[in-house]
Amino acid sequence: MKFTNSGMISLIEKLKDDHTKVINELKIILDALFRIQKNGYNDSDMKILRDKINSLYSEIKTHSLYEENELLIKLKTEVKYKRLVTTLIAEHRIMWDKLEILSNEMDKYSKKHDDDQLAELKLLIESIYELISKHINREEYKLFPEVL
Ligand SMILES: [Fe+2]
Ligand SMILES: [Fe+2]
Repeated sequence: MKFTNSGMISLIEKLKDDHTKVINELKIILDALFRIQKNGYNDSDMKILRDKINSLYSEIKTHSLYEENELLIKLKTEVKYKRLVTTLIAEHRIMWDKLEILSNEMDKYSKKHDDDQLAELKLLIESIYELISKHINREEYKLFPEVL
């Protein structure tokens, strides 16, 4: 379903900008994590992790709800997009859940930090990075070309 109106063009541009921002924030999180792994627990990298993880959660939630309400809802009714739309919405829920789990893990790690907890934290952050980047690719290479 192609939309040629300027509203849709700017909506997709906004969504793409959000994607770039989210990927950059995830990279900042991974860099801080890498430094903690290399140099040990330290307050400044922990602050980066905490702040970025908190802002990422609200940004992703706002972004994905906006995407669902402004774009996915318009495609939902067409049979040919049903599978893609259902997958994207399910991935949004998984992202929210994982980011919530991550916030809880961060709280635990802040109180008591050892190598095992750091390894767990790292696995979780890497799996979130993978999930979000695959999701973004699915949108930018499969979803957006369908509408513009
Ligand atoms: Fe999305
Ligand atoms: Fe998106």
